[in-house]
Amino acid sequence: MILTNTKPITYQQHQFHIELRELLQKLFLKPIPNRIIDVITQFLIHHPLPITDFPRLEGTYSRTILHRHSNGYEAMAARWSKGAVSSIHGHPPFVFYYVIEGKLKIDNFRQTSDGLQRSDSLLLNNGQGFHAFGEPGRFDNSIHQVYADEETLSFHISSDDALKGQVFSSLEERNR
Ligand SMILES: [Fe+2]
Repeated sequence: MILTNTKPITYQQHQFHIELRELLQKLFLKPIPNRIIDVITQFLIHHPLPITDFPRLEGTYSRTILHRHSNGYEAMAARWSKGAVSSIHGHPPFVFYYVIEGKLKIDNFRQTSDGLQRSDSLLLNNGQGFHAFGEPGRFDNSIHQVYADEETLSFHISSDDALKGQVFSSLEERNR
């Protein structure tokens, strides 16, 4: 999986980006996860960021950091090409996903004494999201694998750098 941090194409020009950044700055100063979810969901319903503002990478996804605070909180937009698949990965203790446009299928996993086991799957259409809380200091919150069923733009907030999330080998690799 290729991870990129390429710059958005029209980030500086789009009014929605400027307003969103100002909102994120305020929310991240003293972060209250449930308030962040409510405020950002309302914002994105009324101001959906255009998918074409973000870099498209054939066969994979691009990551664009929209705002980071020194306390670790970050907001990121991911543009997925159709058919792109993520690694199996965990997240910082607070994570929020929201699909602005497109469709993601998410396979959730739980850790057992025999290793990872798939627990359930979730389909996120545009306008749908989820959040999860884990243990402080750990990066195995909400372990999942993401499939882009369509060209998709998703929005993510986490309480720390999402790339600190624990990455697991795929079940197929471990069964070889
Ligand atoms: Fe994830």
